[in-house]
Amino acid sequence: MDHDEKTMSLNERSTLLPNFLEDPNKKHLIDGQWVASMSEERIDTFNPATGAVLATLSRGRTQDIDRAVQVARRAFEGPWRLFTPAARQQVIMRFAELFEKHFDELTLLESLDMGAPLHKRLRAGKSGIIQTILYFAAQARNIGGALPHNSLAGNVTTMIIQAPVGVVGAIIPWNGPLFSQMHVLGPVLATGCTAVIKPAEDASLAILRTAELLLEAGLPPGVVNVVTGLGVEAGAALAAHPDVNRLAFTGSTQVGREIIKASAGNMKRLQLELGGKSPDIVFADADLEKAVPGVAMGVYSNSGQICFAGTRIFVQRGIQEEFLDQLASYSKTLKVGNPLEEDTVLGPLISQRQLDRVLGYVRTGQDEGASLVAGGSRMGGDLAEGYYLEPTLFGQVTNAMTVAREEIFGPVASVIPFGTVEEALRLANDTPYGLASGVWSSNVNTVMRMVHGIQAGTVWVNCYGLIDPAVGFGGYKESGYGWKGGESQIDGYLYQKAAYINGSNV
Ligand code: NAI
Ligand code: MG
Repeated sequence: MDHDEKTMSLNERSTLLPNFLEDPNKKHLIDGQWVASMSEERIDTFNPATGAVLATLSRGRTQDIDRAVQVARRAFEGPWRLFTPAARQQVIMRFAELFEKHFDELTLLESLDMGAPLHKRLRAGKSGIIQTILYFAAQARNIGGALPHNSLAGNVTTMIIQAPVGVVGAIIPWNGPLFSQMHVLGPVLATGCTAVIKPAEDASLAILRTAELLLEAGLPPGVVNVVTGLGVEAGAALAAHPDVNRLAFTGSTQVGREIIKASAGNMKRLQLELGGKSPDIVFADADLEKAVPGVAMGVYSNSGQICFAGTRIFVQRGIQEEFLDQLASYSKTLKVGNPLEEDTVLGPLISQRQLDRVLGYVRTGQDEGASLVAGGSRMGGDLAEGYYLEPTLFGQVTNAMTVAREEIFGPVASVIPFGTVEEALRLANDTPYGLASGVWSSNVNTVMRMVHGIQAGTVWVNCYGLIDPAVGFGGYKESGYGWKGGESQIDGYLYQKAAYINGSNV
């Protein structure tokens, strides 16, 4: 079968394809034009709900990345430079409007491509994603420098100037690209940088469509370019490129290490958001009516494919059995199903590879002596063709077991008992990661000790997974560095320059 036949068979079966897939053979978007790879090679991208080919992507390699970076450099030095902060803000505002207008189409594309529940996850996040774009629109008007008073002899004026760093590379993961990309697009557009984006090979479509909307919003061609392809090819070429000034990467800690090495050549600045093994800690005085669904969705949301998933559930002795029972019963009420159906809570995993990886962890958990309390199996029946897994819960886990140490990135939770606040802190922090955490308690002293004691970039108290663009998000330890969102993120996209102007003779 050639590509056309493969994609056609899916198109014939679906009445729901967005217009963007009328031509399912997608290209790179470079300099405002759709262009094929120089090699003309293509790769398939799948619908994880059916396992069928959804579209084909151009397979970008070093030469395509080179071309896009050159274009981005030219755009940086070209007319985009002349956009005032107000003009950049206006482009972002127009983009926000278009994004909202096309939101249903974009979310359908995303759901088909990576399997997230269309209604309960993607469309439910509408206000959050649009507010994130608008937050960066406001930041475009908030960039300045300083005029520090100096103590130098004579009449020397000192200035600190802030200037955009230049060309930004962005490597985006597949677990939520529509939202993820905003944390690069926002600061790039706000500061006047340009970008080359390499989406994940498993989920590139919503990013390609977004880039098209940016052009419609009035962004000059070449300011945002998208090159699709494999991580080890296009991604690695972008990370190593000598003319990229900054690189934003979200993905595995293992690839994060490769990125650090690749960046050394030209010392590009990095923002890394990597893996997690976040603790979610339930004290005996917690309101269980809120804690049970809160903890469950903290781990099962997006079928567990979230960097901050609260996968290590620490439960205080005393309520341990009751909590485990309630969590198991609750998990069985969550509908696993076709992501396009209104009441679906867990869609498929992204790929057969991810499903195999997660099932491997389920087996390891059992081999190491954890007890499987709920789930653990691939879904059959109507769902047998997709990569669906039941919400899975392990009891009798210790913090030393593999399922409690490694990022699983699937709907797999582990319940681990603890006694005192000190023990909870010690266990929570006994991990190489430090992305996020949750605490459920009605005691303010307990809450404050946890908030200050947990070594992680975010602590959610009596809630889980809230994100606000003004607050931002980042990790401790091997979860990476660089803060996404918040005022400080903009700093990473700006060079500082000091000027000493000797005016003593004037
Ligand atoms: P990955 O880290 O390989 O992929 C993430 C992105 O990096 C993709 O765009 C990929 O094309 C790119 N990439 C891969 N290798 C690269 C390289 N050598 N140089 C430059 N870019 C490269 O993650 P993968 O294999 O898809 O998933 C494996 C595990 O990674 C998951 O099970 C999960 O534990 C973790 N992960 C974490 C994410 C997060 O949000 N923190 C997102 C995706 C994966
Ligand atoms: Mg896909």
